[in-house]
Amino acid sequence: MSNRIHKIAVLTSGGDSPGMNPAIRAVVRAAVYYNKEVVGVFRGYDGLIEGDFIELDARGVKNILHRGGTFLKSARSERFRTPEGRQQAAQQMKDHSIDALVVIGGDGSFTGAKVFEQETAIKTLGIPGTIDNDLTGTDYTLGFDTALNTVVSAVDKIRDTAHSHNRLFFVEVMGRDTGFIALQSGLAIGALDMVLPEEHQSSWDELTQYLEKAFEAQKTSNIVIVAEGSKVGDAYSIAERAQQLYPNVDAKVTVLGHLQRGGAPSCKDRVLASLLGVSSVEHLLNGKSGGMVGEICGKVVFTPFDQVIGKKKPLDTQLLKIARILSI
Ligand code: F6P
Repeated sequence: MSNRIHKIAVLTSGGDSPGMNPAIRAVVRAAVYYNKEVVGVFRGYDGLIEGDFIELDARGVKNILHRGGTFLKSARSERFRTPEGRQQAAQQMKDHSIDALVVIGGDGSFTGAKVFEQETAIKTLGIPGTIDNDLTGTDYTLGFDTALNTVVSAVDKIRDTAHSHNRLFFVEVMGRDTGFIALQSGLAIGALDMVLPEEHQSSWDELTQYLEKAFEAQKTSNIVIVAEGSKVGDAYSIAERAQQLYPNVDAKVTVLGHLQRGGAPSCKDRVLASLLGVSSVEHLLNGKSGGMVGEICGKVVFTPFDQVIGKKKPLDTQLLKIARILSI
C-alpha cells in the first residue's frame, strides 16, 4: 500500500445519521492499523476551515460504536461553498500536514468534497451517511436501517391505538426529496398507502381510491405514510382534506420528525459503517480518491463523485407494487 499518505482527516457533514460514530471509529482504527496518523474534524467543513481538529488514536474512539449522532458533530457549511472557504480549509490541512480527507455525509457533502479535490488536489473519499438512502452507488446508506426500525416501532404503537378507536392515521416520515423511508416502512407496517415525493408515484386521487376501498372493506385501522417531501401536501393538510371529504372518519396525524435521526445504530448500520470505514482508508492508501465507497449486493464498490452527485437513486418499483398488492 502507498505510503504517500501519512495523515488522514475524517469529518461528518450534513444531517447526522445513526452509523456515523461507528464509521468514524472504523476510519480511525483502520488508519492506525496501517500505521497512519488520523485527526477528527469537529463540525464538518466549518471545523475544517477553522482547524478545529482532534488527534485520534485507537482508544480515542472507544465507547462510540453503539451511540447515535456523531461525536464529531455535523454542520451544513455555507462558507465551504465559497472558494475562499475551501482555500482556508486547504491551508489548515497543509498546516497540520494532513494529506487526505474522509467525508461521511450525503449528496451536498460530496459536492463539496469533489470541488475541494479539484481545486486543491487534496485526496477526498466519501462514505454515504444519510437516513434518506437516496444515494446512487450503494444499496444502503448509514442510518437508513436504524431510521426504518425507529419508524416501524413507532407506527406499530400507533396501530394499537388506531385499531382501538377505528381511526385513520396519517404518519409523516422524513424524506425531503425521496420516499425510501416511506416506502420501506409503509411495507413493513402494512400501510394502506404511501404518499411519496416521487410525483408520478402518488396523487390525491390515488389516495382517495385506497381510502374508499378500505372503508368498503370495513378495515378497523388505516395508516397512511406521508413522506415529508410529498407533492400532495404535508400530513396535516392531507388529513384535513380527507376529513372534509369523509366527515364520518376520525383522522389523526403524527409527525415523527427528528426522532427518526437519533438512537443507537442498528446491527446492520454498525456492520456497514465498519465495512465502509475500513474500505475508505484502504482505498485512499491504494491511490483511489474523488469518489464514494458503497456496498452493492454485498460487495464494496467505489463510485466516482460525478456518478453519485445529483443522481438520485430510483425507488424500487417492485417493492412499491408489493406494498400495493398487500394493502387490499
Ligand atoms: O437529509 C436527511 C434529512 O433527515 C431529511 O430527510 C430531512 O428532510 C432533513 O434531513 C432534515 O434536516 P434538518 O435536520 O436540517 O432539519
